[in-house]
Amino acid sequence: MRKVFVIGIGAGNPDYVTVQAINALNKVDVFFVMDKGSDKEDLVRVRKEICDRYIKDKSYRTVEAADPPRDRTSSSYESTVEKWHEQRADIYEQLIAQELGDEDCGAFLVWGDPSLYDSTLRIIDRIVARGVIAFDYEVIPGISSIQALAARHRIALNRIGKSIHITTGRKIAEGLPNNIDDVVVMLDADCSFKNLPDSEIDIYWGAYIGTEDEILASGKLRELMHDIETMRAEARLRKGWIMDTYLLRKPADQ
Ligand SMILES: C[S@@+](CC[C@H](N)C(=O)[O-])C[C@H]1O[C@@H](n2cnc3c(N)ncnc32)[C@H](O)[C@@H]1O
Repeated sequence: MRKVFVIGIGAGNPDYVTVQAINALNKVDVFFVMDKGSDKEDLVRVRKEICDRYIKDKSYRTVEAADPPRDRTSSSYESTVEKWHEQRADIYEQLIAQELGDEDCGAFLVWGDPSLYDSTLRIIDRIVARGVIAFDYEVIPGISSIQALAARHRIALNRIGKSIHITTGRKIAEGLPNNIDDVVVMLDADCSFKNLPDSEIDIYWGAYIGTEDEILASGKLRELMHDIETMRAEARLRKGWIMDTYLLRKPADQ
């Protein structure tokens, strides 16, 4: 039966690729690469570098497909994402059906880990639910940007016996959750930390973590927020894209 691997490749440094991922990479006949536009060429390049570095037999093929653009004008986030997932499912289904022979193995290489803010597994679920093509699939975990952030700042994410909360910039724009001391924020294009009233919060911030462009900053949010905003804007202008993640840590006694 056809097989599809969903392989977490880590959040940017080819050294993050696990032995399990390398073993899976070496079984793949066809890699499916979604082209996200010229700004994200660097991300496609990292995937190619990983294949060059870790795959012994170079007889694999790479098939590129254009990522459908997401409608950013619609007022309903959920319905926009729903439509986008459906379009992606159409494309992935076609790729699997047309590019993989009955005994072939394909792979989607997922940035970081597939379980975190990535739609690949939801899209595969859709294709399975449609029941049009038969295939088996396996998920290989990767080092997420959250683990990389914690390692680069040399911190544990939770405090003893406490919870952590993982969320998006869009969500913390509405305020930090109550009763949670440690909040990891991803996908924040608007520096939503600027709007938080608590002046004693610490921030541990990282952009392009694990890559040669990595930028790290940590300290009191109130002292760093404007510097981070400036660094972020300059880096984004310089490279054409940015990925940053941060931990917000409330004081221990709150
Ligand atoms: C679509 S999510 C994908 C997350 C990914 N699956 C993971 O496990 O890290 C993209 C977000 O992940 C974070 N991110 C991914 N790679 C990063 C990196 N190298 N440095 C900092 N943040 C990163 C950023 O918050 C970015 O907006």
